[in-house]
Amino acid sequence: MDIKIRIASPLQVKTPCLVVGLYEKSFSEPQQQELDQKLGGLLRQARRNGEFSGKSGEQILFQPAGHLPAQRILLIGLGAKREGSLERLRSAAGTAMQQVVKKKYGQATFALPLCTVKQCDGAALVQATAEGVILAGYRYDRFLSEKLKEHYKLPRSVTLLTGKAYDRMACEAALENTRKTCQAVMFARDLVNTPGNVKAPVFLAEQAQAAAKASALECTILGHQELFDAGCGALLGVAQGSVREPQLIILEYKGGRPNGSPVVLVGKGVVFDAGGISLKPADKMDEMKMDMAGGAAVIGTLYAAAQLKLPVNLVGIIPAVENLPSGTAYRPGDILTSLSGQTIEVLNTDAEGRLILADALTYAKRFQPQLVIDLATLTGACIIALGHHATAILGNDQPLVDALLRAGEESGERLWQLPLWDDYDQQIKSHVADVKNTGGRPAGTITAAAFLKKFAGDFRWAHLDIAGTAWHDSDQPYIPKGGTGVGVRLLISFLQNLVTKSV
Ligand code: BES
Ligand code: MN
Ligand code: ZN
Repeated sequence: MDIKIRIASPLQVKTPCLVVGLYEKSFSEPQQQELDQKLGGLLRQARRNGEFSGKSGEQILFQPAGHLPAQRILLIGLGAKREGSLERLRSAAGTAMQQVVKKKYGQATFALPLCTVKQCDGAALVQATAEGVILAGYRYDRFLSEKLKEHYKLPRSVTLLTGKAYDRMACEAALENTRKTCQAVMFARDLVNTPGNVKAPVFLAEQAQAAAKASALECTILGHQELFDAGCGALLGVAQGSVREPQLIILEYKGGRPNGSPVVLVGKGVVFDAGGISLKPADKMDEMKMDMAGGAAVIGTLYAAAQLKLPVNLVGIIPAVENLPSGTAYRPGDILTSLSGQTIEVLNTDAEGRLILADALTYAKRFQPQLVIDLATLTGACIIALGHHATAILGNDQPLVDALLRAGEESGERLWQLPLWDDYDQQIKSHVADVKNTGGRPAGTITAAAFLKKFAGDFRWAHLDIAGTAWHDSDQPYIPKGGTGVGVRLLISFLQNLVTKSV
């Protein structure tokens, strides 16, 4: 699918489908009046009939029959104007794109960015619209037969109309960068959607190597022997129930000053989480193939950063394991010695994510990071707290948390902070080891983070629990059902701010 920018009036373009965004209760604006006039009052009529009021998510299709060069007009509601945001625009573009794909239009022209959003420049409008269009068109089709694959057809091309007032060069650059970032998001989605039978830790490592080869990344893989020699006892404890060899995947991108201290990203890479001996219930266990979504986000972010040539040094660390029950599996009551030297009493083998992250966070110290961010589908409690609309964020450095919160607003991958007071440490005290791996039912997301804090050492660190946001079991405007690729756009936004403003 080809996406391009054009400066033209929507009233003059020839297209099979013209997508126009309208705010609620603002039909009297000049552009909309002009359109209504051309359509012989169809807009007003639809509004009077209650068929289209401009509410967010609403849509209606017109056949202007000779009134306009466009064959069809797809009106999309943008909601109340004073609530206008880039996220609204992204969602509207996604909703429209879903229709364009469903109806198999070969081409579509989007006039959404003409509706100005508060305090936004053309580049931001183009970016949000293109994100909605590209990400809504995604589909995981690797295991569909050719016939079914053909059934789903993206338009050959999509044109984004912009006004003359916007800087053309900046818009073109924004579009090119958005293409690259979205490609990385869709790569991450593919990894998450890949079924467990295909997705061994070694598969993840190969995918990371392929991503490294396609851009300016270095990739190092540690296997069982190296992990054993290094002393990664926590990671190996989790891995020992599966016949599949664990891997520690390390990606490096050197776009910043030579020897400048890197930003380290750590991503949970449990390729399938059955819970181990503390086996999960059968219901929805299939979804636990998504338990490596943090790792996918890290691989995707390094890939995108390299494609975008961001002037920053980055390291990605992905501990990749499978958590299964078996005759060789670790047990409740086991005590593991982590890479940091701290011992861990395992009370529940299903709290495996924090164990592999503990060793990965300790490993991160070797890179003398300026800051560390980990992403993990860590706790079911996070879904209870925030549902599927926000990622939980906790950390030991408020300016870092604030910068991530801001990137969350910008990207539409929103975050909500939970407290990380020392009070919670009580819950993970063990009588026989330095720490235990569960803290009981109260504040499950926080006690998981309190556990990680013991391994984050003294560097600036933030933890993102993406348990609720990494996977959707129904279609969203620009996120089809399945893996979401959450984290990539968030972190790219964060890194772009970091290089321009410093955090
Ligand atoms: N991967 C799960 C968390 C999860 C659950 C992610 C549902 C996405 C959807 C994690 O490894 C886990 O099992 N956590 C346990 C921890 C508990 C045993 C302390 C949980 O949340 O139940
Ligand atoms: Mn688990
Ligand atoms: Zn898990």
